[in-house]
Amino acid sequence: MHRRPLERERANPVAATGRPFNHPTPPAFVVWNDYKPPGKGARVTRLNVNGEIHEVDLDIRTTLLDALREHIGLTGSKKGCDHGQCGACTILVNGRRINSCLSLAVMHEDDEILTIEGLGKPGKLHPMQQAFLEHDGYQCGYCTPGQIVSAVGMLGEVADGWASHASADINAAPTLSEAEVSERMSGNLCRCSAYPNIVDAIREAAPAVEVGKTDERRAA
Ligand code: FES
Ligand code: FES
Repeated sequence: MHRRPLERERANPVAATGRPFNHPTPPAFVVWNDYKPPGKGARVTRLNVNGEIHEVDLDIRTTLLDALREHIGLTGSKKGCDHGQCGACTILVNGRRINSCLSLAVMHEDDEILTIEGLGKPGKLHPMQQAFLEHDGYQCGYCTPGQIVSAVGMLGEVADGWASHASADINAAPTLSEAEVSERMSGNLCRCSAYPNIVDAIREAAPAVEVGKTDERRAA
């Protein structure tokens, strides 16, 4: 029996059209940073970054890393893997280190966000930045902002008494042995393998970095 085209498609949509019945034609090309579904998705988000308030018009699916880099223009935090594997995007949120590629910007409207740009500046470097310079704690430098911010966050965890997988006694106050620092920094990868110098820099800078306990820092 001869069927009209619509009937043929209903009877066997995949054979007739190459895609399931009612499946919309996909857009030819979507640039995800620019993509906003019509009439929904975009939202003004207030972010407190390095002590400054930024109001940014974001698709609600924008990661904190993309908000910082693409919308606010703070490109110090790097995108290495974009899925929580490398640590290049590490920033501090309320004193805690996080992978900013794994968090949505809209989740952080009431938070204090600190990036490498807020840690120190040329001429007034943070002790951790200075120690990385003195110990040559980098080669290409791509992982370095994440390493430095992560190291500062890690010292906060030590001040809070957090044990690590390398701690011999989880009830004792943590010490910053080479093994402890290596373990605590294991979320930050360095493709140039500058690890020995990174560990030296962190151990040297630690006494000069006043972190205090996280709750005290937040109350101050
Ligand atoms: S870019 Fe975020 S962990 Fe690699
Ligand atoms: S210095 Fe090149 S990736 Fe770490």
